[in-house]
Amino acid sequence: MLRTVVCVSGGGTNLQAVINAVEDGRITNVQLVGVISNNRSAKALERAQNHGIPAFCISPRDFTEREQFHEAFLEKLRELTPDLIVLAGFLVAIPPAVVREYEGKIINIHPSLIPSFCGVGYYGLKVHEKVLERGVKVTGATVHFVNDGMDEGPIIAQKAVDVEEGDTPEVLQRRVMEQAEWILLPKAIDDFANGRIAVENNRVKTTDVTLCEPSLCIRKSV
Ligand code: GRF
Repeated sequence: MLRTVVCVSGGGTNLQAVINAVEDGRITNVQLVGVISNNRSAKALERAQNHGIPAFCISPRDFTEREQFHEAFLEKLRELTPDLIVLAGFLVAIPPAVVREYEGKIINIHPSLIPSFCGVGYYGLKVHEKVLERGVKVTGATVHFVNDGMDEGPIIAQKAVDVEEGDTPEVLQRRVMEQAEWILLPKAIDDFANGRIAVENNRVKTTDVTLCEPSLCIRKSV
């Protein structure tokens, strides 16, 4: 079983999609060993507790220096010994030390079709506001590995979603979640946990068969 930690900041609907998929067997070979939030009042923490998953808040507000927060975050991860870390709406830039230690084992969901509408300043509702401002007709979501760039790691999966006349950022956000995020993220976790993902030259190949022992082949090839 792949020890999996999910990091969250807000509502936790993606976390819920993952929990549901683990519970109903759409994700196999995964044990959710912890949920970490930087935000004490994140509804996501409640969702974790409701399903018996240990939930932790590590807030930058509890530390005088950013560095101390980063250390506490890394310390908590080490305690949980994850094979996979899922960033599901986690609004904290992952410290380089964490990326180094868990290279090839961190995945993120981003609510646009990368490389559009991503990078610094593109998070949460802001992404959808910019999509509407620009007037694109299609948006979507992306699951990708996390490296030391911002939304720059190898892309695992993407799904397009139509932008419709009259959309508000909130309406569009909801459609992207329903039609893309809540489907893509559980599927990517299941593929990862069952060794169906390989990375070569920064490109991800997903197959129908198990390629190797889950995280090992990824680790080597990212
Ligand atoms: C999602 O749109 C996710 O892609 C983005 O932030 C939002 C988090 O939503 N990074 P939730 O907390 O999973 O409901």
